[in-house]
Amino acid sequence: VSKADVDRREADANERAAAFMRTITTRRVVRDFSAKPVSHSDLRDVLTAGRWATRGSNSRIHRLLVVEDRQVIRQVRSFSPGMLGVPATLIVICTDPDLAAEAEVQLDRDVTPWIDVGTAAMNMMLAAHAFGLGSCPVTSFSKSAVAVVLKLPSGVVPEFMLQLGHPAAKRQPVARVASVTTLNDLVFWGTYGPLRTGC
Ligand SMILES: Cc1cc2nc3c(=O)[nH]c(=O)nc-3n(C[C@H](O)[C@H](O)[C@H](O)COP(=O)(O)O)c2cc1C
Repeated sequence: VSKADVDRREADANERAAAFMRTITTRRVVRDFSAKPVSHSDLRDVLTAGRWATRGSNSRIHRLLVVEDRQVIRQVRSFSPGMLGVPATLIVICTDPDLAAEAEVQLDRDVTPWIDVGTAAMNMMLAAHAFGLGSCPVTSFSKSAVAVVLKLPSGVVPEFMLQLGHPAAKRQPVARVASVTTLNDLVFWGTYGPLRTGC
């Protein structure tokens, strides 16, 4: 292996890392969607990103329900104050009590299942953005009503919904951000408090 090969590989790795960081830093929630359906090829990639998310104790007690029927999405929306858009697709992250029992996860005590919802959701949002799709979480909704609309089996809980679709051509005005959190605002190095900075 020549030095030129090594240099090229390193440059490729740096480029991939920079592209990945760009995906992370340019993602913003999208609440205004076009009616264009999400291709199943893109959808499978987004779902695969969710599948590969890290999870507590390596247990998998959630299932992802894909909803594409516009009428059902509108019905769900009527019980979801946090759902501002009408996305082409909804991915509903559901907790399955039977899977939780099998994995000996105590849903009333253990917080890791809720964190697992977040890791899966974030992976899917980043993948969606990488494919040029928009996404937005919905947590403000009636779980009991949505469970009925989606005909979920008894005990299965819709924890989180991800709106997914192509961003509308005319984007909604971006909400004014009161203050942008800088790395210095967010991170303390070694000692908790604002006086020290590490880099
Ligand atoms: C746990 C969680 C719950 C959220 N719930 C909702 C919601 O119900 N409706 C909504 O429109 N946005 C929701 N959001 C989106 C946030 O408002 C949004 O991510 C935040 O304002 C930052 O914007 P950005 O993701 O574009 O940087 C939620 C985000 C998270 C992480």
